[in-house]
Amino acid sequence: MLNHDKVERSVPLLIVLTIVTIAFGGLVEIVPLFFQKSTTTPVNELVKPYDPLRLAGRDIYIREGCYNCHSQMIRPFRAETERYGHYSVAGEFVYDHPFQWGSKRTGPDLHRVGGRYSDQWHYTHLMNPRDVVPESNMPAYSWLDRPLKEPNIGAKMAALRAVGVPYSDKEIADAPKAVEGKTEIQALIAYLQGMGLALKQTR
Ligand code: HEC
Repeated sequence: MLNHDKVERSVPLLIVLTIVTIAFGGLVEIVPLFFQKSTTTPVNELVKPYDPLRLAGRDIYIREGCYNCHSQMIRPFRAETERYGHYSVAGEFVYDHPFQWGSKRTGPDLHRVGGRYSDQWHYTHLMNPRDVVPESNMPAYSWLDRPLKEPNIGAKMAALRAVGVPYSDKEIADAPKAVEGKTEIQALIAYLQGMGLALKQTR
């Protein structure tokens, strides 16, 4: 008979059973999320796939490592919702591959920054944060005011379509035109301005 005595005296058996138990517990927690409506469908009709310019801006956000100092995940606590607005819900991130939730906050959370400032404010702030926030220790990103080069934007959208983002053939074909003649900083600002609008008006 298999009793505790046997399990606790045999290290290999203990290891195997521990792994089985944790793996089973993990699956029970994780697998339902793949099928739960609230995590797999947009929370409302305001959640849309990124247009080409915002997608390019998202990639600059990743390339420049903005996530090292900024989260995009407002927790459901009073101190957070008073400051940032409605807490973040899974249904707002269904088109984010990969998501940018993050956990490090040297700067403020950015999930609901969309519409909080003008495009001009963002431009000035990114070129030199000290011009608008004198005590800021955010680095300047002055090199971003240069032409945006996105020869593969259509391929990026096609790749996202492969993981479930509903881009149409026409949207993908028209994408290069949408980013033509833009600068990197314009793409990044477009990305920031679209952030978190789905539940912006809700408290
Ligand atoms: C070294 C840490 C650091 C990095 C990296 C960083 N930031 Fe910041 N950011 C801050 C800090 C600190 C603040 C608060 C002071 C200020 O507003 O400048 C801030 C503020 C902001 C704000 C204003 C938020 C608000 O609600 O007032 C925006 C927008 C922003 N950052 C965008 C970016 C973007 C985009 C990048 C990447 C290109 C970036 N940050 C990289 C530290 C950082």
